[in-house]
Parts: sequence; C-alpha cells; structure tokens
Amino acid sequence: MSTLSEADLDKQTVTKAYARWAPVYDLVFGAVFERGRHAAIAAAERIGGRILEVGVGTGISLPHYSRDCRLCGVDISAPMLRKAEERVTEFGLSNVEGLWVMDAEHLSFPDDSFDVIVAQYVITTVPNPEATLDEFARVLKPGGEIVLVSRVGAEAGLRRSLEHWFQPAARKLGWRTEFSFERYSRWAEQTRGMHLIERRAMPPFGHFSLIRFGKNGGEGRDTGHDFASDTMRAVG
Ligand SMILES: C[S@@+](CC[C@H](N)C(=O)[O-])C[C@H]1O[C@@H](n2cnc3c(N)ncnc32)[C@H](O)[C@@H]1O
Repeated sequence: MSTLSEADLDKQTVTKAYARWAPVYDLVFGAVFERGRHAAIAAAERIGGRILEVGVGTGISLPHYSRDCRLCGVDISAPMLRKAEERVTEFGLSNVEGLWVMDAEHLSFPDDSFDVIVAQYVITTVPNPEATLDEFARVLKPGGEIVLVSRVGAEAGLRRSLEHWFQPAARKLGWRTEFSFERYSRWAEQTRGMHLIERRAMPPFGHFSLIRFGKNGGEGRDTGHDFASDTMRAVG
C-alpha cells in the first residue's frame, strides 16, 4: 500500500541520523515540540491503560504521563533509547514496563496488546508509513486509539515547493518534509476496522497535526469523555 518515491527514507540513514542527534536531541527539539507532546499525552490518557510509545526517542514524554498509565517504549536507535533509560531511572518511573530497540514496522508484540499507540514525530521518519500504521493497528486492542503527532506537508503553494526543495537535505537528517494528510486519511479509509477520529493543527506554525485513529469494537473504557463530539470536530 505504501507510495515509494525518491523522497523515501531507508532505516540505515535514519539510525545513523538519530545516533548523531541523541546527545543534543532534547536541547534542539525539547521545547519546540512540547505542545504537540502534551496534546498527544492528554489524548492517550483519556483512554489510559497500557500505552505503547513508538519512536520514544530519549523518553522526553515519559515523565509527563499519569503514573496510572502503564508505558512501553520502542525505538530503532539504541543511543536515543539509552537516554530514555537514564530518564526512567532519574524520574523513578515505575510505571514504565520496558524499553526495547525495535523497528516500528515489525513490532514483536502479540495482536491486541495495547489500549493506545502513541507516535510523536515518528511517522515521517519511517521508510514505510502505511505498513507501520498497519502494525500499530495490529497491536492495538479493539476500542483503542492510535495517537500521532506528525508533520503534514503542504498540498500546494510556496511551502509545498520549499518542502520539495529541502527534502534531500532533510532525508540526511532523518525525516521527510513532504507528507500529505491525504496519506493518513486514505490509510484509514482502506484499513478494515480503523477510522479517523480527529485532526488538529499543532505548532510550530500549524505545520504539524495531532491525528487520532480509532479501532472498532471492544467494550471501550468508561473515560467520561465525549468521543462523539471529537469525531465531529475538525477532521480534514
Ligand atoms: C523526531 S524523533 C521523535 C522522538 C520523540 N517521539 C519525541 O517526541 O521527541 C523520531 C524518533 O523515531 C525513531 N525512529 C525512526 N524510525 C524508526 C523505526 N523504523 N522504528 C522505531 N523508531 C524509529 C528515531 O530513532 C527517533 O528516536
């Protein structure tokens, strides 16, 4: 189902790039992505239960979840994960079940393992985004949610041209600049049992979005949250 192009990434490039980012990642990307992370955590906590953070990186989000949530984290970069392990120790995060070096596209968890899958600033760094979303859907329990914060490429205009121009350099840094929202919505339409719940613009400059997908079925957890009103809000 994935749409390959010269803009696509390979895992070796991404792994190398994040080994270089690891020592300075929090300094460079800590504050700038903070609002998106907090929005994703709030969405995940409404479901609660057992949460998998894919591309957990340096574990920058982990201390911000309620201690009632059980957390698992995976990342393809061992140097990034070492930072996450240090953070778990530093903050005494006893609600973190484990952190594993693992490829988002090939998760070694059984089907229906998690109430929520969170991936912040990750989908545009994986070589096969649709296959990766398929894997998220597989390990998600019925009634659960996938919560993404992700860069969404411009459909047209100057920003679209700049993103296209910058893509070769961005690839070396470990991400894509071009990635249309249509790819997310098409994935949900074409994936049995999954539906788009919400898209909400996020800073910086609204170039990022919080995107939530739901998996049909399950009894659902009584969170007291009005999901119907979310569904009607700002999709598209
Ligand atoms: C931009 S960072 C985001 C880190 C963190 N989620 C945050 O909010 O700052 C992208 C992360 O995704 C990880 N990543 C990239 N490709 C991956 C893959 N195929 N499987 C698992 N993790 C991957 C990178 O190693 C990196 O830690």
